[in-house]
Amino acid sequence: MSSGPDELELDPFSWAFHENPFPVYARLRAEAPAYHNPRLGFWALSRHADVAPAFRDWELYSSAKGIALEHEGEASASASFLAMDPPRHDQLRGLVSRAFTPRRVADLEPRIRELARSYLRPLAERGGGDFIEDFAGRLPMDVVSELLGVPVEQRADLRTWSDTVLHRPEGVVGIPPEARVASGQMVVCFIDIVKERRRRPGLDLISALLATEVEGERLGDGEILGFLFLMIIAGNETTTKLLANALYWAWRNRAQRKLVEADPTLVARWVEETMRYDNSTQIMYRTLTRDHEIHGQRMREGEKVALLIGSANRDERVFPDADRYDILRDTRESLAFGVGIHFCLGASLARLEGRVALEEVLLHLPHWSINENNLERVHSPNVRGFSKMPLHLDHPIRAGRLVSPAE
Ligand code: HEM
Repeated sequence: MSSGPDELELDPFSWAFHENPFPVYARLRAEAPAYHNPRLGFWALSRHADVAPAFRDWELYSSAKGIALEHEGEASASASFLAMDPPRHDQLRGLVSRAFTPRRVADLEPRIRELARSYLRPLAERGGGDFIEDFAGRLPMDVVSELLGVPVEQRADLRTWSDTVLHRPEGVVGIPPEARVASGQMVVCFIDIVKERRRRPGLDLISALLATEVEGERLGDGEILGFLFLMIIAGNETTTKLLANALYWAWRNRAQRKLVEADPTLVARWVEETMRYDNSTQIMYRTLTRDHEIHGQRMREGEKVALLIGSANRDERVFPDADRYDILRDTRESLAFGVGIHFCLGASLARLEGRVALEEVLLHLPHWSINENNLERVHSPNVRGFSKMPLHLDHPIRAGRLVSPAE
């Protein structure tokens, strides 16, 4: 399709869009707040005042046909209750929500810190490394795996497969064969894990789910596998991207970086502003359950609608000077974790992991620099962040103490 310089097209599969989606979002908010893409067959809402109510109105904006553009019909197998409407959504979410109460999550802090240190110390001693491979990709996987009961030996493979499930080669619309193969590999691995937990139950969430009944019925294997998929992909990919995005934007904004370095109590705000400014989850989709008119456009029952979180979070009507990265700003209206019945179940955990991980980064990796030429982006229609982030330390650290250049 030819597209002139002024033609406005939102193409969630385009690598150029992944590189910098924000100018497209700004034009959508200004010129086409109810945008239709006939080529790819979806609508998009970009203003905060439209995105937030759409998230809340699950009866009109249904999740039951999937939350990705390409997942029609395959949704519930791999997205569990994220891709369901009430009442089933509420039942399944209710089962696992006990593991995610703020209190239960807060108890995880010492273990998260210990894990973070175990990765950051060697990275610091080597004077640098790849921030994703050596740290940001590993920590969230360990945390979610310990909650679920995923053995250490399977975690590296699961990370590789879950990256492949999300990756889209340039120009590919739809689910590529490699992603399907990786999905299959994850299923085989999850089947093994569930079998093992059935044989030898532990104190983990999988064992608890295997023993749980909903209205007198045990959860089916399919439901447990779907839940594992959801946790590994939703819980792991997003948090990995958050950590690297936080580092990147602090590095690009020297004054902001100095603020957190001078006052580490600001780290929680660094996390929030990173998610507002450049969230790892940019787009969630819904399917309309009836015709609906908005901004003079008639969207039809059964059509897909993209809810552009990344755009709503840059809406200047809600966030003054929205394109400025400012860790001191008020982020309460941020839609980074969604809103309504699907509000991120792992939000407290993600916030805790973000804060602890970045506090430890400040401690163990002072004077980091990013080698911008070798940064690599993830290419996915809804997750945004980096797959490679080479980092070096100007002053290496040994065993937690700064080594002066003269030493
Ligand atoms: C920076 C990190 C994270 C971000 C930005 C994020 C973002 C989101 C968003 C936007 C939603 C709403 C989806 C929708 O409305 O369709 C969501 C749902 C969800 N997230 Fe997260 N998430 C993060 C971390 C986590 C973690 C660590 C976990 C668990 C270990 C998790 C588990 C879930 C689950 C289970 C849901 C589905 C909730 C439901 O459908 O009721 N997320 N997340």
